[in-house]
Amino acid sequence: MARTPLIAGNWKMNLDHVEAIGSVQKFAFSLPKDYYEKVDVAYMVPFTDIRTIQTLVEGDKLQVTYGAQDISKHESGAFTGEVSGKMLAKLGCSYVVIGHSERREHHAETDAVVHLKVKAALAAGLAPIVCVGESSETRAAGEHLAFVTRQVAAALEGLSAEELAHAVIAYEPVWAIGTGKTATPDQAQAVHALLRAQLHHAASEHAAGIRILYGGSMNAANAAELLAQPDIDGGLIGGAALKAADFLKIVAAAA
Ligand code: 13P
Repeated sequence: MARTPLIAGNWKMNLDHVEAIGSVQKFAFSLPKDYYEKVDVAYMVPFTDIRTIQTLVEGDKLQVTYGAQDISKHESGAFTGEVSGKMLAKLGCSYVVIGHSERREHHAETDAVVHLKVKAALAAGLAPIVCVGESSETRAAGEHLAFVTRQVAAALEGLSAEELAHAVIAYEPVWAIGTGKTATPDQAQAVHALLRAQLHHAASEHAAGIRILYGGSMNAANAAELLAQPDIDGGLIGGAALKAADFLKIVAAAA
């Protein structure tokens, strides 16, 4: 099954709603229209930017999608500060990033919490972008493959094959995030191939269609060789997604 690559920019806690307009407009007006047939583009933005991006995308009929960087595991109620899947869906979000290593590290998100958030996303009709990835210590110990497959198994536990078909996996080795140290194409492909085999086991009929993104210092210079790997189906881009011109080059590499 051919997988359309997905290039998703994860802005993290950058770009307010006014800056967001400038960045998305600059990108959208520079991208040749036929690229949209070859690559899906998504912006994963701060909650406060979503309504603005929705207005822009709908108003200008832009062919980009967008989503949030987190979701509550609860449906509604007395959970001060939380944002529900239903609220995100109502704002036209297609995706939500779940279990990013920064949330696992700074917000004590366990595999169990990640799993509940994946369920919450699917229940709201959002595609979860489930992030997994090992630390440098885990890789040095030679345990990275076991570690990431454990993370994926925990996140997706008990999901039906139909539910799995809506998921996106992002392999983001923690040591490569924001460090300028990218996994080599071979290192990334080895993990992606293993995850593909794992997905086959869990959802044979859909596994070939599930996109597995790479994230971690992907940029305009290294995107093409990473994306050329057979099981790398796109990227989750941090720093290089903040400048429209850089993001555009990565999208062009995918197209
Ligand atoms: P960088 O591209 O800045 O390394 O960040 C990757 C990332 O964490 C995307 O979710």
